Amino acid sequence: MTRNRTIALIAAIAALVLAGVWFARKADTVNGTAGEAGSTVKTSGQALVGGPFTLTDQTGKTVTDQDFRGKYMLIFFGFTFCPDVCPTELQIMAGAIDRLGDKGADVVPVFVTVDPDRDTPEALARYVQQFHPRLVGLTGTHEQIAAIAKAYRVYYQKVKEEGAPDDSYTMDHSSVAYLMGPDGKFLAFFPPGVTPDQMAEKIASFL
Ligand code: NI
Repeated sequence: MTRNRTIALIAAIAALVLAGVWFARKADTVNGTAGEAGSTVKTSGQALVGGPFTLTDQTGKTVTDQDFRGKYMLIFFGFTFCPDVCPTELQIMAGAIDRLGDKGADVVPVFVTVDPDRDTPEALARYVQQFHPRLVGLTGTHEQIAAIAKAYRVYYQKVKEEGAPDDSYTMDHSSVAYLMGPDGKFLAFFPPGVTPDQMAEKIASFL
C-alpha cells in the first residue's frame, strides 16, 4: 500500500494548495471590488473543485449534480475492489454521518467509482450497503467518470501487470473526501487519516 499512501499524500498536498488558491481568490474578490470602482474585471470567487456531472446511481437511476442542490455532498472517489484505502475512508465517512445524527440529515455521503467497467450499479448496490444505508454509489461511462474526476481534481489510473488477464488489474487513485455545499460549491476537504470525530466536527461547522 506504499504506492497508495504516496498518492494519498500527493492528493492531500494538492488539496491544500487548491484550498489555499480558493481562499486567496475569495480574498481577491473582496479586495478587487473595493479597489477597482467601475472596472468590469472581476475575480471569480468560484471554487476550483466541483461542477456539473451526470452519472448513474446504484439503483440504475440517472443522477446529476442538480439532484444534490439543497443538500450537502460528502463525496469520495474510489473503486469497490480497493483492498484498503477505500473501505477505510468509507468507514470514516459513515462514522462521521452517524456522529452528526439528526443534524446531518441533509448531508449525503457519496461514493463515485473510478472503475466503471467492474463497478456496475448492481456491484455498487452490494458495496455501499456494507458501509451506510444512506451511502449513494455513482458510476457512469468512461467519459462521465473522466469528466467528474477532472472537475473534482481526482487522479486515477488503471494499473495492470503485463500479460495479466483483462479483468485482473487495480486502480491507483487519490483519496480525498470533499464536502460540497447546498449550492454545489466546495466547502472543505478531508485528507486520509482524519478521524470520524474530526470529520463530523468540521461538517457540523457548516450546518
Ligand atoms: Ni481505494
